[in-house]
Amino acid sequence: SQSAEVKTNIITLTRFLTEQEHKQKHATGDFTLLCHALQFSFKSIAYYIRRATLTNVSSHRLHTFHLFQLTSPQLIGLAGSSNTTGDDQKKLDVIGNEIFINVMRGSGKVKILVSEEEEEAIIFPGNGKYAVVCDPIDGSSNLDAGVSVGTIFGIFRLADNAEGKPEEVCLPGTELVASGFTMYGASAQLVLTMKGGDVNGFTLDNALGEFILTHPNMRIPKKRAIYSVNEGNTVYWDDACRAYFESIKFPQNPDEKPYSARYIGSMVADAYRTLCYGGIFAYPADKKSKKGKLRILYECAPMAMVMENAGGLAVTSDQRRMLEVVPEHIHDRSGIFMGSYDEVQKVTAIYAKYD
Ligand code: AHG
Ligand code: MN
Ligand code: MN
Ligand code: MN
Repeated sequence: SQSAEVKTNIITLTRFLTEQEHKQKHATGDFTLLCHALQFSFKSIAYYIRRATLTNVSSHRLHTFHLFQLTSPQLIGLAGSSNTTGDDQKKLDVIGNEIFINVMRGSGKVKILVSEEEEEAIIFPGNGKYAVVCDPIDGSSNLDAGVSVGTIFGIFRLADNAEGKPEEVCLPGTELVASGFTMYGASAQLVLTMKGGDVNGFTLDNALGEFILTHPNMRIPKKRAIYSVNEGNTVYWDDACRAYFESIKFPQNPDEKPYSARYIGSMVADAYRTLCYGGIFAYPADKKSKKGKLRILYECAPMAMVMENAGGLAVTSDQRRMLEVVPEHIHDRSGIFMGSYDEVQKVTAIYAKYD
C-alpha cells in the first residue's frame, strides 16, 4: 500500500528536542527554543553555501551577483566588480557570522556569543542564561572548490549571577551542556550531543526544510587504520609527533598494514568522516604554531565532546584530556588529537616515551 512506502512517523529535530525536554524534570523550554534558533541558522547558512557553490560553477561573476542579490541588493554593483576568489570566501564567512549573530540575538536566550569572526565576545542585553560559542564557517578556504565546510557550536549554561563578561565564557569543555556541528556536504548533516548523552545525526531534508533523525546514537569505531593530518607541517613537528606518524606509516609488526591518509582541510568534514569510519584526526601543536591552530572554545572543545560521547577520545598535544582545558582567552588555541579510542591511546602511549 501507499503508506508502506511513505514514512509517516519521522523524528524531526523539533520532535527530538521536545522529547528530550520532556525527559528533564525542571526544563523551562529555554534550551529547546535556543536549539530551534540554532537549527534555523544552520538552514540559512546551508542555503547560502549551496547557492554560492551552485552559481560558482558556471561563472564567477554570476556567483557574486547572485549571492548579493539574495542578501544585500544594494551591493549588486559592487559585487559585479573584480572581486578575487579569496574575497568571496571571506564574504561567506561574514554572511555566516551575521546570520549566526542575528539568530542568536533574536532567540532572547543568549547572553554571551563568541564567534571566530568577532575579535570580542558579543554581549546581548536581556536575561539570556546561555553562552554560545561558534565557528560559523569552518574550512572556508575550501568554499570556492565546492568542498564541504561546516558550522561548529557549543552551548554553556551561565552561572545565575553571570554579568555577561567575556571571561565568564572561558570555561572547559566539561561545562558544555550541548555541542555539535553541521556539515554542508552532499547533504547538510547536523550532529548534536548533550552533556552525558548520545550523539545523534540529523539530515536536512531540503524539500521538507526539516532536519530528520537519520543517525541515532552514533558510535565511533574503536579503531581504524586511517589518519588525517596536514602532513606538510612535518618539518615543524616535535619528535614524539613524528615518531607517532612514522609508527603508523611504517608498522613494525609484519601483520599490520600502513594506515591510509585522508585530509580534507575542513575540520568538520575530517571529523565527521572520522566519526563515521573511525581513525584519527590531528592538528598538533608544532614549532610554527606553538599552541596548535584550532581554537579551543569553538573548534576543539565541541568536537571533543562529540568524540567522547560517541565512545572516542580527544587529547591535546601534551596528552591532556581536551575537554578539561580552560582557555586563557576566547580565541585561545590548542593542539589536538581525536578520534577512535584505540587510535588516540596509541598516540598517548608513544608520547609517553618522549616525556
Ligand atoms: P576556519 O576555516 O574556520 O578558519 O578553520 C580552518 C581550520 C580547519 O577547518 C582545518 O582543519 C584547518 O584549518 C586546516 O588548516 P591547514 O590548512 O593548516 O591544514
Ligand atoms: Mn574552523
Ligand atoms: Mn571559520
Ligand atoms: Mn577562519
